Amino acid sequence: MPVAPVPTVPELRLHRAGPKSRLSRLAELDEDFGAPYWAYEWGGGLALARHILDHPEIVVGRKVLDLGAGSGIVAIAAAKSGARKVIAADTDRYALAAIRLNAAVNEVRVLAFLGDMTSEAPPAVDVVLVGDLFYAQDLAQRVTTFLERCIECNIEILIGDPKRAFLPRARLELLAEYPGSDFGCGKRSEQMQNAVFAFKACGAARPMTI
Ligand SMILES: C[S@@+](CC[C@H](N)C(=O)[O-])C[C@H]1O[C@@H](n2cnc3c(N)ncnc32)[C@H](O)[C@@H]1O
Repeated sequence: MPVAPVPTVPELRLHRAGPKSRLSRLAELDEDFGAPYWAYEWGGGLALARHILDHPEIVVGRKVLDLGAGSGIVAIAAAKSGARKVIAADTDRYALAAIRLNAAVNEVRVLAFLGDMTSEAPPAVDVVLVGDLFYAQDLAQRVTTFLERCIECNIEILIGDPKRAFLPRARLELLAEYPGSDFGCGKRSEQMQNAVFAFKACGAARPMTI
């Protein structure tokens, strides 16, 4: 896949799928090949990466987990912004390859972790970043429960999302919105308002309409 700057986050360059990438060939060769989410830009990741690069104080000197990292866009933004340690976790082994390749292209160090942390105890990090992980109901429920455990351990949690249906809205405070594309909606031009939220302890989020 060709390497190109990311629209609305031009500080970062990623291997991005294009019409000639023919990812379907990989699917033919590997029966375990899942949806190649790691090859595209998701609205949540775009917004969260933009937010972190614009507000490096969120991560500087801190240990960060990017949960559901995909291409690694959010993890790479955190590493570029001065995070002390960045873990990028995903359940797709192709995503792990993408994270490693994309980290190298951007000359940052990111620890790629293969596995599902949502059933685990909270990790030893200061910040959890979640880019676009609320696209399916059962996954959204598992992620929310995991984030509840993290917030009890005083871990700061930021979520980037194009306001999908399964967002845990009652737990969120809107921090910012950024125009941009969203692969999940099939819109590649800048016609979305992708949002960044803080995930709050139960009852602590200011009510809002999103
Ligand atoms: C929609 S993509 C978003 C990728 C990236 N965060 C972004 O915003 O561009 C969701 C990613 O989450 C991963 N994923 C799904 N369930 C997961 C889980 N339980 N733990 C970790 N990653 C998961 C998928 O493999 C996929 O790469």
